This record gives sequence, structure tokens and C-alpha cells, in this order.
Amino acid sequence: MTERELVISKIREGTVIDHINAGKALLVLKILGIDEKTRETVSLAMNVPSRKMGKKDIVKVEGLFISEEKLNKIALIAPNATINLVREYRIEKKFKVKPPEVVRGILKCPNRMCISNAREPVESIFYISLKGNEVVAKCHYCGRKISDLAKFII
Ligand code: CTP
Ligand code: ZN
Repeated sequence: MTERELVISKIREGTVIDHINAGKALLVLKILGIDEKTRETVSLAMNVPSRKMGKKDIVKVEGLFISEEKLNKIALIAPNATINLVREYRIEKKFKVKPPEVVRGILKCPNRMCISNAREPVESIFYISLKGNEVVAKCHYCGRKISDLAKFII
């Protein structure tokens, strides 16, 4: 660490979401439900230089341990993210998010004629695949393919 480098403070207890695709940190906060009412200490860095990714975003939240459902949503918009669970300043667990192969009730199909958007809607089902760095999804019912999934998260 040189004196030219800037660091965000370490956290005592909570979650560090690292290697978020550059520019997606604000969406991660949205998925976590973090807004102006939040009382926890939250740090966010965008476009930090990264050897692996060129640029990356980082989010650190004190006192937060993320549910499986939210991890799946994060994986859809930040498929390279690393989750670090911190206790007493030490990383207790580190793992990469993994986009699920199938997601139910998480994405809304943009096709208005799709049965998943009918007057008595059925739960949406999408098949997930990776296209390079991007996550794409295909609707089980109508076959519509979507990318830039943040727009479609329910
Ligand atoms: N971190 C933190 N608070 C702690 C411990 C770690 O905020 N008490 C942060 C670090 O600043 C870093 C991330 O958690 O952003 C991962 O820490 P570490 O595993 O030590 O860093 P790297 O080895 O660079 O991680 P990786 O191999 O996943 O790139
Ligand atoms: Zn559809």
C-alpha cells in the first residue's frame, strides 16, 4: 500500500461485496434494500482499478448478512462478485456468487403477451446463461431473451 492509494475502511462485522462489475454498485445497494433510511455503516466505491477486472465496484455493509434470494439477484447483475463474510475484522467465509440456472419469480418478462403477464399471472421462469461477462435470460413460456437484467428484476 503506497501513500497514493486510497482505501475504504475495513469493517468489523458484516459483508463485503467485492469484484462487482463496474457501475453496478448502486444496483447492488437497491437489491439489498439500502436507501436513505438505512442506519448501518455502508461504504461504496465505484470504478476502482482492479487487476482482474480492469475496473470494479465494491460495497461494504456493517451488520449485514445477505439472504440466498438477494445473493441470486446480485449474481444476475454482478456475476463476478465475491462475497466476504467478516466477523471481528477477519474474513470468515469467502465465495463467488453463482448465477442460478433457473430463476423463478425474480425477473419480469417484457413480452406483454407472455402468459407470465396474463390477468391471472403465473410465476415467471427464466433460464440463465452467461455470454462472456454478461448474464442473459430466456423466458420459459415465450422464449423471449433478455440481457441487462437489472431492468427486469421484480
Ligand atoms: N475487508 C474489509 N474488512 C475486513 C476484511 C476485509 O472491508 N475486516 C475487505 C477488503 O478491503 C477487500 C475484501 O474485503 O476489499 C477482501 O479482502 P481480502 O480477501 O483480504 O482481499 P483480497 O485477497 O484482495 O481478496 P480477493 O482474493 O477476493 O481479491
Ligand atoms: Zn415470456
